[in-house]
Amino acid sequence: MKKIEAVIKPFKLDEIKDVLNKLGIQGMTITEVKGFGRQKGHTELYRGTEYIVDFIPKIKIEIIVPDNIADEVANVIEKTAKTGKIGDGKIFISNVDDVIRIRTGQRGEGAVS
Ligand SMILES: Nc1ncnc2c1ncn2[C@@H]1O[C@H](COP(=O)(O)OP(=O)(O)OP(=O)(O)O)[C@@H](O)[C@H]1O
Ligand SMILES: [Mg+2]
Repeated sequence: MKKIEAVIKPFKLDEIKDVLNKLGIQGMTITEVKGFGRQKGHTELYRGTEYIVDFIPKIKIEIIVPDNIADEVANVIEKTAKTGKIGDGKIFISNVDDVIRIRTGQRGEGAVS
């Protein structure tokens, strides 16, 4: 299994949720986060206002998926999150050793979906 962690522009969340839903994704976690990329200390447009700050509001999406759909999920997030402007975000992909569905005790891919 893979963990796909995407840090995106907040206004893209609804659209990304919709495309992931169409892919049949069975669960995800989102968090309101703040961060910066390589323009640290420089300006970035956020909701039409120019802020000169280190930390910009972002949304982090975490999804655990079976290996065989990880590429597709990452590609769809990449395509949907992209505006072509700075601050579009990043996608981190890593291996997940195990998953437990607490209610049933199920483990592994069977517990993901
Ligand atoms: N190396 C990193 N580690 C952890 N989080 C990161 C990293 N790089 C970026 N982020 C997170 O992703 C958000 C968006 O990053 P951003 O898209 O600005 O990256 P970038 O490398 O500066 O690319 P760009 O030049 O397109 O802006 C940051 O606000 C931060 O929350
Ligand atoms: Mg940046």
